[in-house]
Amino acid sequence: MAVRKAVIPAAGLGTRCLPLTKALPKELLPIYNRPALEVIADEAVASGVDTLVLVTGRGKSAVEDHFDRSPYLESRLRNQPALSQSITRQTTMVNAVSVRQGEAKGLGHAVGCGEIAVGDESFAVMLPDDLIFGETPALRRLIEVHEATGKAVVLLMEVPWEQTRRYGVVDATPRDDGTFDIHAMVEKPSPEVAPSNLAIVGRYVFPSSIFKKIRNTGSGALGEIQLTDAMLSLAQEEGMIGVMLEGTRLDTGNPLGLLIAGMHYASQDPDVFAELKKAAEKLFS
Ligand code: UTP
Repeated sequence: MAVRKAVIPAAGLGTRCLPLTKALPKELLPIYNRPALEVIADEAVASGVDTLVLVTGRGKSAVEDHFDRSPYLESRLRNQPALSQSITRQTTMVNAVSVRQGEAKGLGHAVGCGEIAVGDESFAVMLPDDLIFGETPALRRLIEVHEATGKAVVLLMEVPWEQTRRYGVVDATPRDDGTFDIHAMVEKPSPEVAPSNLAIVGRYVFPSSIFKKIRNTGSGALGEIQLTDAMLSLAQEEGMIGVMLEGTRLDTGNPLGLLIAGMHYASQDPDVFAELKKAAEKLFS
């Protein structure tokens, strides 16, 4: 039940970030001085993952290139160790393989495309739009629960009731250890029908049996294969556990969220924080 691989769906169209994403993959947009995917890769590695399964599509080859070596640049930077390290670290700390999703047919379909690289073992899914900052890597907490129980595990976050229609929301009961037993989930419910205000955010650990569930899932809302439908079936047959978010979760799937995430990331460096604060005071006074 050890979890060594993380599937990272990165084949979406990123329409909320247009025109930024017309030619650039959303997953490589900057979080201050790092492409978003590097921040995700750091969390994966800190959680014990050794292989990223990047699900890409047409127009996303820059994602694969970013996790590849760059011999010409490396030789040009031979005398600049810090810069050189900044371009080699992602290729030395983790393996990256990529699979293609020929058509953006939804998150469930994208995860299903990872099967060929994951095989018959438990694995993680990390949505690169969700950046999570905290003391313990969010994914590591999920992996620990999976390794102890063998069940699928998802990350949960309490959201204001009026925002339930932006998320997949669970019907769950608390367990003695502070985690939750998840019985059901609903995609983007209005507050009136939402079973709770506990939303699923972008970290999951699944047994390989989720792949069969995805194959058996027909197209749902908008003609897409929804991950939620496959998860519901898995939860009902094998059980599923929810772990509450600790730390800060930032959604980088829209331009404002991207800007805020960049500022949050930059402000972790005290010198940059001081500069940023000065600039903000001047700009907004
Ligand atoms: P989103 O729905 O947030 O991303 O999917 P999107 O479709 O790219 O964005 P918008 O809504 O058009 O602005 C969450 C993650 O799942 C991936 C996306 O790349 C994103 O990282 N995804 C989504 C796929 O890989 N394939 C899909 O068919 C859909």
